Amino acid sequence: MAEEPSVKIRAYRATDRDGLVDLWRTAFPNTPPHNEPARMIDAKLAVDDLILIAEESEIVVGACMAGYDGHRGWLYALAVRPESRRKGLGVRIVLHAVEKLRELGCIKVNLQIRSDNAEVEAFYQTLGFAREDRISMGLRID
Ligand SMILES: CC(C)(COP(=O)(O)OP(=O)(O)OC[C@H]1O[C@@H](n2cnc3c(N)ncnc32)[C@H](O)[C@@H]1OP(=O)(O)O)[C@@H](O)C(=O)NCCC(=O)NCCS
Repeated sequence: MAEEPSVKIRAYRATDRDGLVDLWRTAFPNTPPHNEPARMIDAKLAVDDLILIAEESEIVVGACMAGYDGHRGWLYALAVRPESRRKGLGVRIVLHAVEKLRELGCIKVNLQIRSDNAEVEAFYQTLGFAREDRISMGLRID
């Protein structure tokens, strides 16, 4: 029988909050105030619960947020703790999120990579994501 992986990917639980805040603060140290982790968690849970957690011995070692608006799916804030990287965990988290989006009827998943984090493109390419000829635009409305 195949051995159970020691890291489980599962839905976010309230008890993950401190671990998730710590993970995101570590992985995204230059986060602007509107993306402060605790605020992001509260805002996401007010809309839906598509936050996936990778847990090992009750420690949050990875996470990602997904969103589906009925047209496209999105992935946000994928992160793996530095000491747990390059063991295939990032891939497992994304595949889990993609499956959740597919179950919701989503047919295409998008994501954005900051230009100062361009090396992550190689990671997403291993999963089949490809660069598209688009201009990404945004408008702050707060
Ligand atoms: C991006 C991230 C989630 C990848 O997690 P991970 O668990 O290390 O990824 P995996 O082990 O599943 O990587 C699978 C493959 O992707 C590629 N890959 C992963 N990280 C890479 C990197 N930094 N540079 C180039 N290729 C990379 C490799 O081909 C790797 O396979 P290999 O280890 O056999 O060579 C992790 O580096 C991270 O948390 N980074 C900081 C946060 C971040 O930038 N998130 C993305 C926001 S868009």
